[in-house]
Amino acid sequence: MDLYVYCNPHSRLIVRFLLLFYLCLNTGSVKSCMEEERQALLTFKQHLTDPSGSKFSSWVGHECCRWRGISCNDRTGHVSKLDLSNTYPTSSVDQYYWNDTEYDPSFLRVKLNPSLLALKHLTYLDLSNNEFQETHIPNFIGQLTSLSYLNLSNSYFSGEIPPSLGNLSNLNYLDLNSYYNGGVSYSKNLNWLSHLSSLKYLNLGGVNLSSTGVSWLHHVNMLPSLLELHLSNCQIDGNQLPLSLETVNLTSLLVLDISGNYFINSSFPSWFFNLSKLSLISLEHLDLSGCELRGQLIPKLVGNLCKLKSLNLGSNNFDGAGISEFMSGFSNCSYNRMESLYLSSCGLASEMPASLGMFKHLQHLDLSYNSLWGSIPDSIGNLSSLKKLDLSRNRMNGSIPKSLGQLSELVNLYLSTDEYSPEHNRWQGILTEAHFINLTSLESFRVSTEQPMSLIFKMANDWVPPFKLRTMYIVSCRVGPAFPTWLQSQTQLVDITLRNSGISGTIPEDWLMKISSRVYHIDLSYNQIRGKLPLQYRFPHLSSLDLRHNHFDGTIPPSICDMLLYTLSLRNNQLTGEFPQAWSTCWSHLAVVDVSHNNLSGNIPSSLGIPCSLRILKMNNNKFGGEIPFSLQNCSELWDIDLGGNSLTGKLPSWIGTKLHGLQILQLRSNFLSGHIPKQLCSLQRLHILDLGHNNFSGTIPTCLNNLTSLVTGLQGPWSYYRSYYEQTTIISKGTELEYSIADGAPTLIHVTNIDLSSNNLEGEVPKEICSLIALGNLNLSRNQLTGKIPSMIGNLTQLETVDLSHNYLSGEIPQSISSLNFLSHLNLSCNNLSGRIPTGNQLQTLDDPSIYQGNPSLCGFPLNKCPGDDTPSEQPYQAEDGKDHENDNGKLGFYTSVVLGFVIGFWGVCGTLILKRSWRYAYFQFFDNMKDKVALAIALKIARYQREV
Ligand SMILES: *[C@@H]1O[C@H](CO)[C@@H](O)[C@H](O)[C@H]1NC(C)=O
Ligand SMILES: *[C@@H]1O[C@H](CO)[C@@H](O)[C@H](O)[C@H]1NC(C)=O
Ligand SMILES: *[C@@H]1O[C@H](CO)[C@@H](O)[C@H](O)[C@H]1NC(C)=O
Ligand SMILES: *[C@@H]1O[C@H](CO)[C@@H](O)[C@H](O)[C@H]1NC(C)=O
Ligand SMILES: *[C@@H]1O[C@H](CO)[C@@H](O)[C@H](O)[C@H]1NC(C)=O
Repeated sequence: MDLYVYCNPHSRLIVRFLLLFYLCLNTGSVKSCMEEERQALLTFKQHLTDPSGSKFSSWVGHECCRWRGISCNDRTGHVSKLDLSNTYPTSSVDQYYWNDTEYDPSFLRVKLNPSLLALKHLTYLDLSNNEFQETHIPNFIGQLTSLSYLNLSNSYFSGEIPPSLGNLSNLNYLDLNSYYNGGVSYSKNLNWLSHLSSLKYLNLGGVNLSSTGVSWLHHVNMLPSLLELHLSNCQIDGNQLPLSLETVNLTSLLVLDISGNYFINSSFPSWFFNLSKLSLISLEHLDLSGCELRGQLIPKLVGNLCKLKSLNLGSNNFDGAGISEFMSGFSNCSYNRMESLYLSSCGLASEMPASLGMFKHLQHLDLSYNSLWGSIPDSIGNLSSLKKLDLSRNRMNGSIPKSLGQLSELVNLYLSTDEYSPEHNRWQGILTEAHFINLTSLESFRVSTEQPMSLIFKMANDWVPPFKLRTMYIVSCRVGPAFPTWLQSQTQLVDITLRNSGISGTIPEDWLMKISSRVYHIDLSYNQIRGKLPLQYRFPHLSSLDLRHNHFDGTIPPSICDMLLYTLSLRNNQLTGEFPQAWSTCWSHLAVVDVSHNNLSGNIPSSLGIPCSLRILKMNNNKFGGEIPFSLQNCSELWDIDLGGNSLTGKLPSWIGTKLHGLQILQLRSNFLSGHIPKQLCSLQRLHILDLGHNNFSGTIPTCLNNLTSLVTGLQGPWSYYRSYYEQTTIISKGTELEYSIADGAPTLIHVTNIDLSSNNLEGEVPKEICSLIALGNLNLSRNQLTGKIPSMIGNLTQLETVDLSHNYLSGEIPQSISSLNFLSHLNLSCNNLSGRIPTGNQLQTLDDPSIYQGNPSLCGFPLNKCPGDDTPSEQPYQAEDGKDHENDNGKLGFYTSVVLGFVIGFWGVCGTLILKRSWRYAYFQFFDNMKDKVALAIALKIARYQREV
């Protein structure tokens, strides 16, 4: 809706005629701007920086009316319009092409100069999407009393909104949204607003209104002309809603967006939807998403607003309400205009009713992230205007109806599930040409199913789809074995995920060539694709390439550097040869490199890291030799390094601790590294996984370990992750490899805390400082030459799940405090010189496998033999050293009983924590859901800005 186009074709003709007439009278001399105004503009410009220079490049000479961003009144010649805004790409695909010429933002900085006041006839001022950091909206703006349009949104203004804006009595458009730059502006009192009686459009999104009490509503209610009201994310809470409202003046209101406020426990719905008031009856667009609304009432009441064309109730919790309840309200309306229904993440639990077809005009239907069950009704084919259908992450099942294929307007079809949620779509059956027969508009298609390969794509070999997809996401559905021919007609693809699709053979080259000019994301992981890496084409936009878990062989071509890749995963293939030395040009843009589990050899290139923007580097389980390259210290943004399972030699450089401040994961396991463990490692405040096991490290364990903040105070967010990258890390724990991952913000990996220094030549004592690492989950110091006692305070490490101190020379008694480790499921103290009585109690009783204590000749007590002097000495003491008593039936029975008990309890120990971790995952997931699009956009904008600055 554009409120500012009042012209009808007739008036435009008249304007043109007048303009012509005017130009004729002024033959030869196009009116140039007023000198005073020109000077004012130049002064204004002087106080701004324009980093790219594009904004002000035309601001030279006398014709200021022709300068970029300036318009003058045709009649008077006065400057009437100043527009220095930046525009943002709105679709995610376009966000990607941010750096292209289409969007050429230049963020103005520094100060707004009052010289603007000389522009007495300014009616239109747009400074939106700039970066006036840490500056308040200047008071003097309130003196530009001719303004009818003022847009200062998202320009990093902070602080109090000056009440002097209340003098702009001619305003009919006011946008002060500050949400996308962190929402740090506020207003204590909206009294100033009530003077703006001509206001038609008001946006105070992100402005903190928490201290306005209930008065905010009364002041807004004084604006009888208001057509659009946006108060999203204003920190308004339930107590700021009056229990009732005498009269609602906003009778013209068409658009109301109060999303992202906290109306938990408020009386919100009762007066708002009250039919008798009929005040908001003209409302066409309502956004109440993310307002912590609860209960089944709202779905029933919302149907009172018969004129609604779009309704967003996403990210609330309607406690298992059904879709039919929403529909029952609207079925009383004489005419149903609903075009957009966003009910994502609403706690809906029902089938999709066949009567959904009553929303005849529906264009957007988003029911994702609910608990809908059953299959898609055939009647879906009647929603002939449907452009977007999102059923992702529900509990739907069954086959997908062919009637979907009739939705000729459908642009986005989302049927995916996700691996990290308790809700799974379980599609079955076969997808044929008929399912797509009339989908001529389809651009974006996402499908995945919980049970791999239960949904099968079965199209004739010569089928040419009616659509040209831009994004495609097909996961765990059978599309192979051959690379589908229908896919080869899809030449407009920019974002391709075809993961775990049973595809073998090679990728058709001519298809790659056709998509190469636009594609930016390729994920063909978890297939059986063979051949050389498909990198012979130039992919000017490719930023993310994921070919992990395939059968690619051959070498990594140096041409990979021509591609400006951001993330690269070639994990688990059969690649050979050296890592291209020519990569020195790559490192300035690559953020993620995972070439682990291949057969790569040679030295890690010394060019690595000059310059460097790497965040994740995984070269583990290859045949790399040589030393850790010195130049890696330039990669100061690194958070995850895994170089384990190679043949690296030399020392562990101390700069890892001093230069790579953000390091969270350091894995150098199974190499030939030697020398001391540098104490500088202790300054890595975010480190939570340190694996130096199976090397030749000597010397003592640094005593400064208690400086590893993440392991002392627990992991603190925010966590970094890449939306487009599925980070995987293999952790060896309890003797088995466990694969952890971070995907789409479901961070299991960030909860893993691990120190593994096993199988080295470390000597000296176990430093007592280790007992400060109360967030530590796994500790493995086995197979070293450690001496002295087990630190007595080891019981402080309450999160410990596994402890392995075996095969050292530890002596003295096992500290009693070890029995307070309630999560302990794996303990190994064997082969030391420990003595005395094994502590008892709590979780220790479940760890009754004697072998975990064996090889300590002076140790006694359960589950080993009884200690001397115990009142009822055992007749058949279990002697682990000689094992003779295994012949004894009772002993045998006892042994097996304890093993079984140990297993059962141990099993629950492990699973218990997994279950716990799952709930953490969901908690985080929910968080991302709630904020979903807005956060994603904010992040995207930040990244885009950041990229421009680099
Ligand atoms: C209008 O401007 C005058 C002078 O700048 C100021 O004193 C007054 O407070 C303003 N009025 C409002 C409603 O802000
Ligand atoms: C909003 O303002 C209130 C009161 O001034 C303050 O307590 C609160 O922290 C602010 N909220 C944010 C997110 O800044
Ligand atoms: C409605 O608006 C008028 C003038 O704009 C104002 O006088 C009146 O108090 C408003 N009503 C309420 C209930 O706020
Ligand atoms: C909302 O109400 C419930 C039950 O009346 C109460 O347990 C809960 O603490 C309330 N929440 C808030 C934020 O007031
Ligand atoms: C496809 O759509 C066209 C027009 O939208 C319609 O005429 C035709 O019958 C449809 N075909 C099928 C198979 O639904």
